[in-house]
Amino acid sequence: MTTLPGTTDSYSFHLELARFNVTRMAIDLPSVHSMQWQDALHMESAMRLAEGKYLEALRAQVAPLLPPPSDDSQAFADWFESLECTGPGQHHSLFDWLAEQATLPQMRWFLTQEAVGEAGFEDLVALAQIKLPVQAKLECARNYWDEMGHGKAAGMHGLMLERMVAELGLESTLEDTVWQSLALSNTMLGLALTRRYAYHVIGALGAIELTAPARATKVSNGMRRLGIDGRKRAYFDLHGALDVSHARAWIREIIRPLVDANPACAPFIAEGALMRLVCGARCYQRYSTELLQPRPQMAARQRMPKPARVLGMVLAG
Ligand SMILES: [Fe+2]
Ligand SMILES: [Fe+2]
Repeated sequence: MTTLPGTTDSYSFHLELARFNVTRMAIDLPSVHSMQWQDALHMESAMRLAEGKYLEALRAQVAPLLPPPSDDSQAFADWFESLECTGPGQHHSLFDWLAEQATLPQMRWFLTQEAVGEAGFEDLVALAQIKLPVQAKLECARNYWDEMGHGKAAGMHGLMLERMVAELGLESTLEDTVWQSLALSNTMLGLALTRRYAYHVIGALGAIELTAPARATKVSNGMRRLGIDGRKRAYFDLHGALDVSHARAWIREIIRPLVDANPACAPFIAEGALMRLVCGARCYQRYSTELLQPRPQMAARQRMPKPARVLGMVLAG
């Protein structure tokens, strides 16, 4: 386990990194005393070093899941698309359970964890598009414009999520969040804010677009079953539909042209996608453990399939 000064376990590490990311992303002002910004820079350096070690360890963990090396961009696009079915955590039975069986408190707990783990897709896209070639940059721009509700606040995806959290009265704090959800957010921000992971974040964002619709649809179905109205479900209903076309466009306009231009980038795009999916899979396993206790619901817990052997080793980290 990568450690930060004073941290000894995954929860402490990711909580510390998540707190750092809050200040790292916040709008700030010049410091009054010259030593303040210099001290902050030293601290940032230590945090980014620890973050880099964590991300490199995660890269190594997903290595067994990478596709065979190839210069064929169509083959790579096909592999990428296949992640929807076969990627880590895909079609986890947690989501059937949420759709069909979860109680309202259980659904609320799940939504709270997910809200904290959301790193802010629009900002991630904005960071990812820096210096990309024209075709890829234009698709990022179209995607970003959708995230921005085409210029209308009511349609901004991030605000829809905030509205759902507020209207359901969900109280989310970093401290009450499982480390797997913190790690998901930390991973996305680390990839997006680090130029050596420029291809990784493309893969990770593509994996989100590709895999969100199935999960979002099941979450929305569960919310509807529990009597939560359409306005509060809007974030999930939207992503259940829109991300299908976002994923197609991401693969066609960004991933394929990047691999055509430089086949050497394909493994890094693949790593980013797998890193994101492994982080998600770890969340679903942890959520299942938390939600399917105590004992009366063990039967449902036992129905959850065990991951395949290689994937199981990767998920265990
Ligand atoms: Fe979105
Ligand atoms: Fe999207």
